[in-house]
Amino acid sequence: MPTYVVLLGPPGAGKGTQAQIISKTMDLPHISSGDIFRENMKNQTELGRQAKGYMDRGELVPDDLTIAMIRERLSRPDCARGALLDGFPRTPPQAQALDGMLAEFNGRVNAVPYIKVSENVLIERLTGRWTCRAQGHVFHEKFNPPEKPGVCDYDGSELYQRDDDKAETVANRIKVYFAQTMPLIDYYQKAGLLIEVDGAQPIEKVTADLLEALQART
Ligand code: AP5
Repeated sequence: MPTYVVLLGPPGAGKGTQAQIISKTMDLPHISSGDIFRENMKNQTELGRQAKGYMDRGELVPDDLTIAMIRERLSRPDCARGALLDGFPRTPPQAQALDGMLAEFNGRVNAVPYIKVSENVLIERLTGRWTCRAQGHVFHEKFNPPEKPGVCDYDGSELYQRDDDKAETVANRIKVYFAQTMPLIDYYQKAGLLIEVDGAQPIEKVTADLLEALQART
């Protein structure tokens, strides 16, 4: 049976940071909806053009576009053993669509780690974030600096600050998260899949807690 893990948490909780470590340890592909949208924007595809306005405003891209994009990605051969999902699902209709598509792939959501961080920490994390241009590796100027400023430790590509990490867009993303994504905490808690992890700890400690919880569930 394939293994599917869904990482939940507000913008800046550390989903991407943890996913890039855990996907290697668990040998599962890291599927980030935000990274796929940004890749489409960079390549100026029709999907990228449709997503751009929503992302620039810190709003969610409509469910139908997002669900179709993830379905296509999960049906590729590298996901045959499962996947680590980061940023999807983000609304109840997306969660229901995911359950349906995984059933088609003879799988189900196995575990949902929820990286919990208080709102006041998120702004500092997002406004100090630097992201790698080539593959989306994530750094922070204070909490997780690259060895050489402006250069990715993993692939040597340029680091940049995301357009949606401006203070006013960050505030809207957090508001949207509370309004539209918080119901998923309840959805996965009722399904017995939610694992709460304290995301305010150092990165290595969050990783250790996540791996310990996941080993018991997958
Ligand atoms: P997306 O790219 O998914 O952004 P997000 O969910 O807002 O999450 P982030 O990537 O901002 O944060 P993160 O939790 O990954 O934190 P990170 O590890 O980088 O989505 C962007 C947009 O795309 C959305 O607004 C929407 O428009 C669209 N979209 C995406 N998915 C969608 C969907 N399913 N439906 C509809 N629309 C969708 O960490 C943040 C910073 O903190 C980094 O600098 C890091 O180094 C640092 N850090 C991490 N952990 C720690 C720690 N423990 N201590 C100190 N610093 C830390």
